[in-house]
Amino acid sequence: MLTKVHTGLEPVPGIWWKPAHKAEKLWVSIAFAWCIVLFAMMPLWHWKGGQNPSGVRTRVDPQRYYARTLAFANQYKVGEDRGLPIVQPPPGADVYLVGLTFQWFPILKLQQGKEYMLHLSSLDVNHGFSLFPLNINFAVVPTFDYALRVTPTAAGDFRIICNEFCGIGHHTMVGRVIVVDSTGKYVADNETAIIDHRGGAR
Ligand code: CUA
Repeated sequence: MLTKVHTGLEPVPGIWWKPAHKAEKLWVSIAFAWCIVLFAMMPLWHWKGGQNPSGVRTRVDPQRYYARTLAFANQYKVGEDRGLPIVQPPPGADVYLVGLTFQWFPILKLQQGKEYMLHLSSLDVNHGFSLFPLNINFAVVPTFDYALRVTPTAAGDFRIICNEFCGIGHHTMVGRVIVVDSTGKYVADNETAIIDHRGGAR
């Protein structure tokens, strides 16, 4: 007795070649239309979305970026916190921040309501710029200078947390951004806050 073997040469039994039901055509159409909407939103958000960074990216040699950051820190240094310079550039200035294992350099002192061009880059590996307690996150990548047009909207003493695992000291990589108001003050209850290199403010 010959056993019937199914091969690709014979059509499988079923009704798949019959026209699809109206409901089936409808949901495929809806799904397709929604895909097009989502697809269109990608470029649309780039122009219309308020959440988009004004990212200007250029290639940069990490050593040169670091040298530029050191020069910036020396030029506008106004103080020191545990060996790290506190740097207060004038409003409108280009501000340089560098991530390196395991530190954010330098400490920035900015004025509320003024615009700055914040440059982010890394000296070694990928780091994550996460402004705490605000939910602002950017990748900090070596060989790229990522510039953001920023205007601090609130005075305070903020922390930069590294949110990209970068090595054994990742959890200790905490930086600091001080935002003063027009009178030069920041929030009083944080006035004595300093960076704790064991991982956070105290
Ligand atoms: Cu730098 Cu994690």
